[in-house]
Amino acid sequence: MYELMAWLEASALAEFLRGLGVWTYGLVNLVHILGIGTLLGSVLLLDLRLLGAWNSIPLPTIARPTVPLAATGFVLAVCSGVAMLSFNTTEYHGNPFLYIKLPTLVVALANVAIIQRLSAWRRGMAGNASQPGDRGVLAVAGAVSLLLWLTVVACGRMIGYW
Ligand code: HEM
Repeated sequence: MYELMAWLEASALAEFLRGLGVWTYGLVNLVHILGIGTLLGSVLLLDLRLLGAWNSIPLPTIARPTVPLAATGFVLAVCSGVAMLSFNTTEYHGNPFLYIKLPTLVVALANVAIIQRLSAWRRGMAGNASQPGDRGVLAVAGAVSLLLWLTVVACGRMIGYW
C-alpha cells in the first residue's frame, strides 16, 4: 500500500498540482465538497423514495433527475478526491478512515449496479404494476444504499482527524 501511495505522491499529476500554487488544494477541496453535495443530495432523495417516502410520486419522476445528478457528483468527488490524495498521499498511510472509505465506495457503486438489475426497480422504472414484495425489496435497497454513502461521507470527514 505504501508503495502505491508513494507512487501517486511522486506522479506527474501530483507534481503538476503542487506546482500550481497555494490556492490549488483549497479549490480542489471545493470541487470535492460540491461533488459530495450533489451526490449525497441526489442519493438522499432517491433512497428515501425507495424507503417509502413520497410514494404518490412515481419512481421515474424522482429517479430521472437524481440518478444522472448523483453520477455527476460521484465523478467530481472521485476526480477531486484522487487529486487531493495525490498532494501528500503518504501522510494518509495507515489512516483507517481512508481504508474504510475507499472500499465502501466500491461496495456502494456495486450496490447501484445491483439495484438497477432488480426486477422491482425495473418494474417501477417502466411504470408497470408492482408485484408483492417489491416495496420491501426497494426499501432494503434504499436503506443499504443510504448506509453505504453515509459511511463514505462520514469516513471522508474523519480522515483529517486521525
Ligand atoms: C476515489 C475517490 C475519493 C478519494 C481518493 C477521496 C479522497 C479524499 C481526501 C484525500 C480527502 C481529504 C482528507 C483530509 O485530509 O481532510 C477527502 C475528504 C472528504 N471526502 Fe473524499 N475522496 C473520494 C471520494 C469521496 C466521495 C465519493 C465522497 C462522498 C460521497 C467523499 C467524501 C469526503 C468528505 C465528506 C471529505 C471531508 C471534506 C472536508 O471536510 O473538507 N469522498 N477525500
